[in-house]
Amino acid sequence: MLIAGNWKMFKTRAQTEAFFAEFRPPPGTRVVVCPPFTSIDAAVGRGVPVYAQNVHWEREGAYTGEVAAEMLLELGVEGSLVGHSERRQHFGETDHAVALRAQAALDAGLRVVACVGETEEERQRGDTEAVLRAQLSVLDAHRNLIVAYEPVWAIGTGKTATPELAQEAHTFVKSLIDVPVLYGGSVKPDNAEEILRQPDVDGALVGGASLEVGPFAAICEAAARVAKL
Ligand code: PGA
Repeated sequence: MLIAGNWKMFKTRAQTEAFFAEFRPPPGTRVVVCPPFTSIDAAVGRGVPVYAQNVHWEREGAYTGEVAAEMLLELGVEGSLVGHSERRQHFGETDHAVALRAQAALDAGLRVVACVGETEEERQRGDTEAVLRAQLSVLDAHRNLIVAYEPVWAIGTGKTATPELAQEAHTFVKSLIDVPVLYGGSVKPDNAEEILRQPDVDGALVGGASLEVGPFAAICEAAARVAKL
């Protein structure tokens, strides 16, 4: 079981320090946090592995605004998200770029959480499987690769996929690529355990509920309970 907190563009260094002054990951589950780049060094060394939210595929070069895997490794970062739907929606991230980012990060020795998921429109059109197939077609299984299934309509909206729907999508993802699969999209303390109990749900990628210590710790505790079953 892995619980990954995706802080998105939240938390200054001071706020990161305040979080870690209080947060203690419960035993029995793996926990990682993904702070914004500027707060990474305030998060490293606080007892929780730190992942970046994105990583470029070149080692260095004229890529304004991007950060390379080696730069992250130098800070003590252990992994990175790639292909988050917010990158795809707001920054034109393509499947091809996601593939390049994932491969370069894995080659450099980072763990990778590659995010996939359909929009509401795509689900209503009956295209969910086609979308997931296309997004996953560019990724190869790797021992350091995890996929996060995040239906775009459930991110930050309070609309969670039902546990059955999450299970169905995870089974489909696993039929295409043999790696652990996290669920993401409005995971909260009150729905985490039910979702995490699904047999093909290997953990959660948590946005909003990872920003406050109380709710995030409660989700981590739910994961530890499910891991024991
Ligand atoms: P949310 O975000 O938990 O706030 O819905 C999840 C994510 O975007 O990774």
